Amino acid sequence: MAASTLAPVADERIIVDEDYGQVCDRVADLIATLITAKPTAVLGMATGSTPRGVYERLIRLHQRDGLDFSRVTCFNLDEYYPIEAASPHSYHEFMNRVLFSSINCRQWHVPNGLPRTPEAIAEDCLRYEELIRAVGGIDLQILGIGRTGHIGFNEPGSSPFSRTRLVHLDAATRRDAAAGFGGLENVPTQAISMGVCTIMEAKQIVLMASGASKAEIVRAALQEKPTAEIPATYLQFHPNLRYFLDEAAASLCLGT
Ligand code: PGA
Repeated sequence: MAASTLAPVADERIIVDEDYGQVCDRVADLIATLITAKPTAVLGMATGSTPRGVYERLIRLHQRDGLDFSRVTCFNLDEYYPIEAASPHSYHEFMNRVLFSSINCRQWHVPNGLPRTPEAIAEDCLRYEELIRAVGGIDLQILGIGRTGHIGFNEPGSSPFSRTRLVHLDAATRRDAAAGFGGLENVPTQAISMGVCTIMEAKQIVLMASGASKAEIVRAALQEKPTAEIPATYLQFHPNLRYFLDEAAASLCLGT
């Protein structure tokens, strides 16, 4: 695999490839290696455009090479609230469309976005955390990064101790989602998200970013002092985290 030809990055946590396709090849290979070594692996999944190329490759690995997901368990980071699972805008539907309908994973979980009482939501959030613990915790968590520095839907202001819960979406996050929903007024104002602490408990984290629009937030995530204003900066404390970037996303960190 051709790594970036730009100046080497001093930080070994940062892996830079020339383009998005190579980043996806690398991350898909990492996941395939994990599943081969541990058929009961627990994966943390992300939505958004960034991981889609990885999911395409996992489908190919399953259909062409027989990569077996039958004993793998997956947990998604977040879901809009309120939203029906069958809505074309739900993350449940997104994950079914881009991955799960094409592989043989039987155990996949997305937080429940159905409207219900605050008490019922709190109970379900606790249960989500318990389910993760019951299967031994997340072996590998895939993350994208939002322009606000959110991880999952942990927006600026999120506590490092946060757990799965109902959250308010940042105005910038809603604006970024507006086109997909056919207008800002259709974007839910809330979501259910794993917390920062939930994410930090993953044994391994793979943060992916692609494109020049992510260069500044990637730089901030890596170089700013950990702060609630940029939740991705908390990741600096994780002992087993790597940033998989294309050259455009890495352009403000290269050679530093
Ligand atoms: P994106 O979203 O992959 O669509 O850029 C990333 C995120 O908001 O976490």
